[in-house]
Amino acid sequence: DWTMGAYRDEAIRMIREQVGDAKVICGLSGGVDSSVAAVLIHEAIGDQLTCVFVDHGLLREGEAEEVTGMFRDHYNIPLIHAEEQDRFLDALEGVPDPEEKRKTIGRLFIDVFQEHAGRIEGAAFLAQGTLYPDVIESVSFSGGPSVTIKSHHNVGGLPEKMGLKLVEPLRELFKDEVRELGRELGLPERFIGRHPFPGPGLAIRCPGEITRDKLAILRRADAVYIDQIRRHGLYDEIWQAFAALLPVRTVGVMGDGRTYDYACALRAVTSVDGMTADVYPFSHDFLTETATRIINEVRGINRVTYDITSKPPGTIEWE
Ligand code: XMP
Repeated sequence: DWTMGAYRDEAIRMIREQVGDAKVICGLSGGVDSSVAAVLIHEAIGDQLTCVFVDHGLLREGEAEEVTGMFRDHYNIPLIHAEEQDRFLDALEGVPDPEEKRKTIGRLFIDVFQEHAGRIEGAAFLAQGTLYPDVIESVSFSGGPSVTIKSHHNVGGLPEKMGLKLVEPLRELFKDEVRELGRELGLPERFIGRHPFPGPGLAIRCPGEITRDKLAILRRADAVYIDQIRRHGLYDEIWQAFAALLPVRTVGVMGDGRTYDYACALRAVTSVDGMTADVYPFSHDFLTETATRIINEVRGINRVTYDITSKPPGTIEWE
């Protein structure tokens, strides 16, 4: 009978057979898929694997520390932490258009990844956490409708560009199976259960032009919101939850003074695959308590709204 333990052993055998004694590069995003792929490949070939983690300055609070701490310090996996925040944020200056933001980030990501990965001598393979639904989607989408809702951030053309062959040990798995494999490999439960996070990061949760100041405000608000969700034991019931910083300032009153600060929107949805989504029905008490905490604890926000749009017609992210 089939078990995840047997799958893991077979996957390790196949990785060893495919790679031999060549070196492998793995792009870590901090998400579940690339993390499980990295740990599995590391079990198979040890230090022949080097991970590259690109910090584009659009990560959530504490995220870079969490990822580098886990991979470099806990698993002892060789890791290049590419601190390229300034390059991304400078390139995004004065760019309010959602598609242009996505394309700018995507283009730069490929350049930056290539630069850092290019310094790993003797690399012949690129590891990716491609799942079975990704394999099917790219096939079925090619014959599908030709309307682009959003340019997705991925590393599509990278292997050819860098002359690398692909290692994709999760190609036969669905998301829940990847989580099970992650448990089998001993990844912490808190990491395995993390909500999905998009490649362009906080850029698409900050509609309009991005600034460092806005990102700092958004990071704090998002952290308070997620803390609230965890404290109330709701994190695992929700597919994805996050704050978005709206490009509008509104008048408020605090103590005996006038405020003129940003408004933020909270989003939380349930979903099976991200293709459709329903709004999560928080209690009124939860929402008012969270709004109070955000306004009290986050400088720069004086108004909180809850986004009650399902997908469709809304998308999950704001851009
Ligand atoms: P939307 O906003 O299109 O998002 O309803 C559906 C799911 O996809 C995630 N998402 C992305 N993931 N690169 C990614 O890796 C992207 O460019 C991207 N855009 C959206 C989003 O977070 C949600 O889970």
